[in-house]
Amino acid sequence: MTGQNVVNVSADASTYVFDNDGDHSGDQHRHLARLLDPLTFGRLESAGVGPGWNCLEVGAGGGSVALWLAERVAPHGHVLATDIKPGLIPSREGLTVVRHDIVADPLPEGAFDLIHARLVLSHLPRRDRVLRRLCAALRPGGLLQLDEIDITRWAEPSVPDGHEVYGAYVRAMARVLGTAGSDPTWGARVAGEMARAGLVDVDPVRWTEVWRPGSAGLDLMISNSRHLQDRLVEAGMTPDRLREVREVMSAPGFSAPSFDIHSVLARRAFGG
Ligand SMILES: C[S@@+](CC[C@H](N)C(=O)[O-])C[C@H]1O[C@@H](n2cnc3c(N)ncnc32)[C@H](O)[C@@H]1O
Repeated sequence: MTGQNVVNVSADASTYVFDNDGDHSGDQHRHLARLLDPLTFGRLESAGVGPGWNCLEVGAGGGSVALWLAERVAPHGHVLATDIKPGLIPSREGLTVVRHDIVADPLPEGAFDLIHARLVLSHLPRRDRVLRRLCAALRPGGLLQLDEIDITRWAEPSVPDGHEVYGAYVRAMARVLGTAGSDPTWGARVAGEMARAGLVDVDPVRWTEVWRPGSAGLDLMISNSRHLQDRLVEAGMTPDRLREVREVMSAPGFSAPSFDIHSVLARRAFGG
């Protein structure tokens, strides 16, 4: 943790299932960055983010997107990166890191040219209210990009070996997330929710790929099986079954479809 520029606002109690300060947190964020940064950066580039922009990165996690944004908006732009546990977000010029709960803590209105959040709102209670807060925090004409998950089509591996245990693992993961109040299918509805919140020029993209051993996706799934082991056991897996599914996900020849990510860009109307 660098943390010289971490400002404490509040660290509200959260039902969020992962953590940013445990043995597996660094791995989780490295794998997430390897898996999704190419999609996220491509979308942000298409949004035109550039020098001088004032950006908010919500739930910044390991900070890869916040760092990328800070480079893009330099020398005169600024990025505010928030998280309930911001300890893994690195420092750099033009980037301020804040311990901040997007559900409960104050947020300036009409302030940002761009707000981005990836895999955050689907974890949150009252995510519709959070979405409206984000809209209000945009300046008129400002852009919101949400990159969100939908696990609906995720559970079936492409090859028969390991089919049963992989499916059981994915279903247990869905139960763990659902029990904690996350909605891991929210991605499929995010474009509609953004339009309902009053945003315009809604531009959705759905991303999916096939995961093979050594891919960022399966490395993330292996890391998550350790990160959430206790909860996965409560949800019906056993330590032996978790060991077995890690072996399955590492075996040459295994492949499985990814979850879907819906990356949606939209704009606050001028005069909105
Ligand atoms: C799945 S991680 C995604 C991290 C990062 N956005 C990415 O995609 O690489 C979710 C992040 O949201 C943060 N988070 C969870 N609840 C939050 C809240 N109420 N306010 C702000 N951040 C929150 C977590 O601490 C975690 O860093």
